[in-house]
Amino acid sequence: MIERSELEDILGPRVDEPPLGIVVGGSLSSGLQVKIDPRFSMEKLAVGRYVVIRGRQTNRRFFGIVTDIALDATNPDIVRRPPNLSEDFVLEVYGSEVAFGTLNVSLMLMLDDEQAEPRPVKTIPSHFSPTFEASAQDVERVFGEEDETHFYVGTPLDMEQVQVNLDLARFVERSSGVFGKSGTGKSFITRTVLAGIIKSGLAATLIFDMHNDYGWAVKDEIGREFKGLRQLFPDGRVSVVTLDEDTSRARGSKIDRVLKIGYEQIEPEDVEMLSSLLGLSDIQTGALYYLRRTLGPSWIAKLLEIEKADEELQDLIESGRIVAGTLGAIQRKFEFFRRMGFLIPGRGDDAVEDIFLRLSNGTNVVLEFGNYGNTMAAYILVANYLTRRIHGRYVHQKNLASGGKADEPKPLVIVIEEAHKFLDPKIASHTIFGTIARELRKYNVTLLIVDQRPSGIDDEVMSQIGTRVTCLLDNEADIRAAFSGVSGASALREVLARLDTRQQALILGHAVPMPVVVRTRDYDQSFYTAIGVADANSLRDRAKKGSETLFGE
Ligand SMILES: Nc1ncnc2c1ncn2[C@@H]1O[C@H](COP(=O)(O)OP(=O)(O)OP(=O)(O)O)[C@@H](O)[C@H]1O
Ligand SMILES: [Mg+2]
Repeated sequence: MIERSELEDILGPRVDEPPLGIVVGGSLSSGLQVKIDPRFSMEKLAVGRYVVIRGRQTNRRFFGIVTDIALDATNPDIVRRPPNLSEDFVLEVYGSEVAFGTLNVSLMLMLDDEQAEPRPVKTIPSHFSPTFEASAQDVERVFGEEDETHFYVGTPLDMEQVQVNLDLARFVERSSGVFGKSGTGKSFITRTVLAGIIKSGLAATLIFDMHNDYGWAVKDEIGREFKGLRQLFPDGRVSVVTLDEDTSRARGSKIDRVLKIGYEQIEPEDVEMLSSLLGLSDIQTGALYYLRRTLGPSWIAKLLEIEKADEELQDLIESGRIVAGTLGAIQRKFEFFRRMGFLIPGRGDDAVEDIFLRLSNGTNVVLEFGNYGNTMAAYILVANYLTRRIHGRYVHQKNLASGGKADEPKPLVIVIEEAHKFLDPKIASHTIFGTIARELRKYNVTLLIVDQRPSGIDDEVMSQIGTRVTCLLDNEADIRAAFSGVSGASALREVLARLDTRQQALILGHAVPMPVVVRTRDYDQSFYTAIGVADANSLRDRAKKGSETLFGE
């Protein structure tokens, strides 16, 4: 008989716990098959859960994720001739030996002994290795503890006491993505992660806030109000810049600056990204560069006839460099600019410089679009306009720094929603966002893209995404895209397609030691408290109450 201590050597502390099954087949690439022990109720299992497999020949433990569950039988006839359900004895016999359940397990990590760091798997456990449900301690060991650079973002399914911590330093080091259908919690989890980044100070963030989700008093569909980042960090770490002062003020938002862009600051490159939205043909788009060259900096004002230029335009046509039809079409399509109240005649101001300075000294900037967020072309125009210039400043600063003439620029994370509009395969190769995604962190700038349609994003860009936080997706193409460039991820498809419709996400990549399905952290009062920023109102209330009891009696 095996001694108890010997058993402990093999199984670790779990001698009393029967394994949930044993390994019966499979491979490293396609996953392992585990035959479920008849004493264990397979109906209690779920895809996305973790299991720990004890190697039978070594002391190694393998960590895996359940990616599929199936029914199997030793006798193929059972499908045609199932046992009689009224005979308990027969059922018991069948249920223990003939018919059984199997799990498909994708291996993620291996642990060599109690002290060692978990390592990537390069081998598999041998036949009949016992398999257990991972305990809270097992999972905790893998995800470590929250500290200055590790931020708690959620709990693994059915393990509410365990924290999954994102490695923020790794998260900001490469571009990352938050994906999921509409209403699955993308903006909430993005705000949560951003709060973590801001708190850690590891990077400055520039957030293009299309739907007023990040700055101030965020309302959900049933009217509940949540604190925006400016409220979570009332100490100046977050600036709100608005394009739509009236709407921001009406919402009670505290604003630090209003952004106006002068017509003369807009270049053809800024408009080019709008070609498909404005319906500019290739010829018309090409003509923009010519118009800018010949009409000078006030080309847009001249085309809109805000500035008088009849003769100049007439000359252009007569010289034969541009046909009247093309010019007329561009003028008609440029009418769109008139509705953009944030565009003003003239040279505009130093907004770009101001925003760059805020970011480079570590202040986070939320750019509120107010009502302009409903106009996709406005969002693209402004996000592209600012990003091109801010990125240019970072490249310059980085070059100075490598020549020893300036400090390294603070890492910057640029957050864009509806990212596929910026990273469509047709345009990703020549837009600033495609460039940033591809150049990795060469200039200390990375993207955080938020999108409900990852299949619309250029493949090459997707393959550069380091960390992916994916909420429920149900479109096949989107699911495929969410995993593109991740080796061995296809097994996780089932996991992804079965997430809850809200507040659950599969996190994988650079910032987590292994893929994990989480229930995302609640964004509520307890979160605000944990972020550690005093709630000014409650402090005031408490102070008031205190004084009442002091003097009131
Ligand atoms: N962590 C959370 N804490 C509290 N509520 C949440 C959380 N995550 C999601 N919710 C709820 O789910 C709703 C939808 O979340 P959210 O607005 O983030 O979805 P979305 O994926 O960004 O949707 P859309 O694509 O339409 O922008 C929220 O309004 C909120 O009520
Ligand atoms: Mg959203």
